[in-house]
Amino acid sequence: MIDKIKEHIAIVAGFQASNKEEVEAFRIKYLGKKGFLNQFFAEFKNVPNDEKKEFGQAINTLKTTAQEKVALLKDAFEGAQEENGVYGDLSRPSEPVEIGSRHPISIVKNQIIEIFSNIGFNVSEGPEIEDDWHNFTALNLPEYHPARDMQDTFFIQTDPDILLRTHTSSVQVRYMENNQPPIRTISPGRVFRNEAISARSHCIFHQVEGLYIDKDVSFADLKQTLLYFTKQMFGKSRIRLRPSYFPFTEPSAEVDIYWGLETETDYRITKGTGWLEIMGCGMVDPNVLKNCGIDPTEYSGFAFGMGIERIAMLLYQIGDIRMFYENDIRFLEQFKSTI
Ligand code: DAH
Repeated sequence: MIDKIKEHIAIVAGFQASNKEEVEAFRIKYLGKKGFLNQFFAEFKNVPNDEKKEFGQAINTLKTTAQEKVALLKDAFEGAQEENGVYGDLSRPSEPVEIGSRHPISIVKNQIIEIFSNIGFNVSEGPEIEDDWHNFTALNLPEYHPARDMQDTFFIQTDPDILLRTHTSSVQVRYMENNQPPIRTISPGRVFRNEAISARSHCIFHQVEGLYIDKDVSFADLKQTLLYFTKQMFGKSRIRLRPSYFPFTEPSAEVDIYWGLETETDYRITKGTGWLEIMGCGMVDPNVLKNCGIDPTEYSGFAFGMGIERIAMLLYQIGDIRMFYENDIRFLEQFKSTI
């Protein structure tokens, strides 16, 4: 009999379970009403007196071993269940990480900054609420100059001298007032014009202004700089400069890039010509240099200005400028893969 109990002690000590149910079955088998322990206790009265002590000790060992085993296994499985409760199924696929996306205007702006910073241009900024001097007069657009009509201006009602800048050319003026040549700067920013909103134009948009002032800067330097830019930005290496007029540059030109006529889209966006206008430019008018405190007999330079929306619409084939400002998540999410 004692040997049998000892056998059970060994079995109990080595018992392993794979779930809670098995632990419970084990508990009933040993510690339950009709379990082994009670059966052995019932035998106690039939054990000869001289064996009673050893028998009793053996049963007690079996009892405590079984009790400890049950407690240990129960704990282990309940602990595991708790973890499941907290973390769920640890083998399930993880939650997708939602990353944001940059706005296409920012993407294009950053590209332009990168391209010009590679050839030594820094970035400068100016205020969106401007005065007449920086937006018009210093740029060779005195009061009543007819060219002021080219840009429908939002004025701050109480003061006709204060307005929302109509172009980033105002930053040129501020930069030249505060820095002597050599100057190489680009000025990205938001501009405002009192225009009807349509698929093609908006009353708020963005421009990048460029300014290069040094000794002996020529029109050839302007052309090379723009050619470098269009190659980097669009991968196109043919440009043409059409004579144009801006009050702040002389001579002035409009820059077209040869986009090509390979696809139907090329036909549509270039109106069948293959050419696309992308910016205005010219040699800074000596009057402007003078107005900004730079000696035009010593220095010369060029300037250019382009619309960021226009370039973004070209690159991403966006058909309606209003998309940029509506913050429709379905539109914005499409730029996730771009940096
Ligand atoms: N400020 C002009 C505009 O808003 C763009 C421009 C044209 C800027 C020629 C320039 C320039 O610096 O040289 O339409």
